[in-house]
Amino acid sequence: MKFFIDTANLTQIREAQTLGILDGVTTNPSLMAKEGITGTENIKNHYKAICDIVEGDVSAEVIGTTYEEMIKEGEELAALHPQIVVKLPMIKDGVKACKYFSDNGIKTNVTLVFSAGQALLAAKAGATYVSPFIGRLDDISTDGLHLISEIRKVYDNYNFQTEILAASVRHTMHINNCAKIGADVMTGPLSAIEGLLKHPLTDIGLEKFLADYKKGN
Ligand code: E4P
Repeated sequence: MKFFIDTANLTQIREAQTLGILDGVTTNPSLMAKEGITGTENIKNHYKAICDIVEGDVSAEVIGTTYEEMIKEGEELAALHPQIVVKLPMIKDGVKACKYFSDNGIKTNVTLVFSAGQALLAAKAGATYVSPFIGRLDDISTDGLHLISEIRKVYDNYNFQTEILAASVRHTMHINNCAKIGADVMTGPLSAIEGLLKHPLTDIGLEKFLADYKKGN
């Protein structure tokens, strides 16, 4: 499973990159705003800064909601850096734009996906990635992981190449469960990724090894 970090925070992106396990980055307008990055030029420069840190795909989301706006904006974003993936909303014009970009060799990430039917449409339009938001489904008492299983089944039935990018991952168990189900990618916060490191028996075992070493030296 590929690991993407879901943030626009450069310090956290560097930290994940240093760990040696990072395959890419996802951002969205809310994450950019959280870092205080506003204005088209600043946002574009920030995407370039992210691409300079990581080696993999960097999702950059369009703001436009019409086909024409998404094509113009997506082409500008894709021209920024070869690692840029154009992130498009799961709306009718987003699907059309996805087809346009996939026909023109530009990678896409169809976002705000909450049903297997939406994921099927994204795959039909040639999306590189589809982003089902599992945490936001959990937030409304609906099983987000069940959606990942449904999409896995649909994509495997027809051998779709679109990668399932489990998004809105909130904690470490989401990552474990996405891996068991067979999500191709997960994107989550650094805290959820670092949670995978933790086990009390590891800490206790290391403490004992070091104490025993000291006894003999
Ligand atoms: C996905 O690409 C989104 O940026 C993200 O995962 C949304 O997560 P949230 O529901 O925690 O805001």
